Amino acid sequence: MLNQASESLKKAKKVVFVTGAGISQESGIPTFRGKDGLWRNYDAMKLATIDAFYENPKLVWEWYNERRENIFQAEPNLGHKAIAELEEFFEVVVLTQNIDGLHQRAGSSKVLELHGSIVKIKCTVCDFNEETEYKFSQFPPLCNCGNILRPDVVWFGEGLPQNVWQEAIEHANNCDVMIIAGTSLVVSPANTLPFYAKQNNATLVEINPSETAMTPDMDLSIRATSATALPKLLSEIKNKN
Ligand code: APR
Repeated sequence: MLNQASESLKKAKKVVFVTGAGISQESGIPTFRGKDGLWRNYDAMKLATIDAFYENPKLVWEWYNERRENIFQAEPNLGHKAIAELEEFFEVVVLTQNIDGLHQRAGSSKVLELHGSIVKIKCTVCDFNEETEYKFSQFPPLCNCGNILRPDVVWFGEGLPQNVWQEAIEHANNCDVMIIAGTSLVVSPANTLPFYAKQNNATLVEINPSETAMTPDMDLSIRATSATALPKLLSEIKNKN
């Protein structure tokens, strides 16, 4: 499978990565679904909603605060780094559902954050929006305008930033290979991106230790973790050049 994937990559001019929580799992950041998706016995899926935030902003903020601390201590892993290094061989665009900023820290130059960023904080009312690693101690923290601050992430019940989404569709529409790494592909609209790529006859490659709902739609499925498979792909590409 790896060999077939590297053959496709060798011919590619533009490669789009669609990434999810699984790619950061080997950096010590828990995924959302399955056994990892619990925090103090709360289901992460139920906390990451606009309704949960307005019902209990303190609780949701405490969760985000812990995640911020964990993410700020985490380092990009070999999977993130391999994606960044692949820019040497073809155009690479990363469309990520992750909010952790690890692709950028690994050196990827073109990253579109579909679900926002945990590093950014914005006001629920005024237009305050800032990238900060500040350690908040009172939850929910308040803006200078007196209203509640929130992480600049996309919650269930909210739409994706439209400019980012439109640009993501364009990249998906004109890539030669799409590599889908570390995502269960159950969350819409990110899980429609492979179909845009397919319209351009792109080769779809999945990297995931488990099957996903969209495995039958893939051209190739590599059953390995991303920090194992991506460096191997990178070295095959290097050897072929
Ligand atoms: N390498 C590659 N894949 C992995 C690894 C790993 N080391 N570990 C786990 N995985 C896979 C799992 O098999 C699973 O398919 O990563 C996937 C993680 O799936 P989810 O937890 O559902 O994460 P994701 O797909 O990113 O979720 C999408 O849902 O809650 C929302 O907004 C949140 O962005 C998130 C979105």
